[in-house]
Amino acid sequence: MENGITASMVFEDIVNHVAQNNIRQSIKPKLKTDDVALYVGDCLEIMSRFPDNYVDMIFSDPPYNLSNDGITCQAGRMVKVNKGDWDKSKGFDEDLKFHEAWISECRRILKPEGTIWISGTNHSIYQCGYLLQKLNFHILNDISWFKPNAAPNLACTTFAHSHETLLWARKDKASRHIFNYDQMKNGSFSEDKMKVPEKQMRSVWSIPTPALDEKVFGKHPTQKPLALLKRIVVSSTNEGSLILDPFNGGGTTGVAAKLVGNRKYIGIDISEEFINLSAKRLNQITERKHFSNLS
Ligand SMILES: C[S@@+](CC[C@H](N)C(=O)[O-])C[C@H]1O[C@@H](n2cnc3c(N)ncnc32)[C@H](O)[C@@H]1O
Repeated sequence: MENGITASMVFEDIVNHVAQNNIRQSIKPKLKTDDVALYVGDCLEIMSRFPDNYVDMIFSDPPYNLSNDGITCQAGRMVKVNKGDWDKSKGFDEDLKFHEAWISECRRILKPEGTIWISGTNHSIYQCGYLLQKLNFHILNDISWFKPNAAPNLACTTFAHSHETLLWARKDKASRHIFNYDQMKNGSFSEDKMKVPEKQMRSVWSIPTPALDEKVFGKHPTQKPLALLKRIVVSSTNEGSLILDPFNGGGTTGVAAKLVGNRKYIGIDISEEFINLSAKRLNQITERKHFSNLS
């Protein structure tokens, strides 16, 4: 940690700090507004420039490492399961090493009371869960995101994959994390046929995969639904919270933060194409900043 970096730095300072011209090569955000900064690059490199104990909440949707030339069903057609080169497995040990590197960095930059969400399928989630325990996080929940419109299993050799797992953990067992219980219990979740109005929010969430109107600027192959990310932002952040997504993809976390309102957001992705897509999505919603409910 370089001198002069304190947890009281404001959003602007962190952006300046990432661009450490005189220390290492400068890294400038591709998009920067008062409350959003989007970076193109390796999240390990960019996160290494963040101060300790700085971020309130991290949502992370790391590579699943499932792009192994298998098949899946898309819009009724048989297609290759491959998402992109970024999603190819490098073997069990290398994948584990990568997950340990980025989760450790997230731990360093999270505030003690800060929380991290990690989303994944069976290809990645067990390694990530093991590492959260190894690195002394306190696991708060594992959420099953049930997809009522999941694609069928074409090979008919297993049950149809119809959920993903989201782990939610706090950095420090002794600290008090943000959980907006009442908003989860009493909010409006019209997309979720399993949520009973005015009853506690449970750990199984039924949310359809993203609708076409969430893809008007182009598609990301593993884009998450906005309803899922809005629920996460509302439940585990407050006004003024700084949210980081080190695997920004199509920018769903940033869009959700902006729609919920009064949050600061930093997104990082190795692909310039995906950061450009995120910038278009974010620009479209600057006018509609405050949403009163989650539906
Ligand atoms: C599963 S996707 C995230 C999708 C995102 N949650 C959304 O809703 O659009 C993972 C993303 O991580 C990016 N990625 C892979 N390795 C990376 C790295 N080392 N640093 C930053 N981004 C990386 C990929 O380009 C991909 O967009």
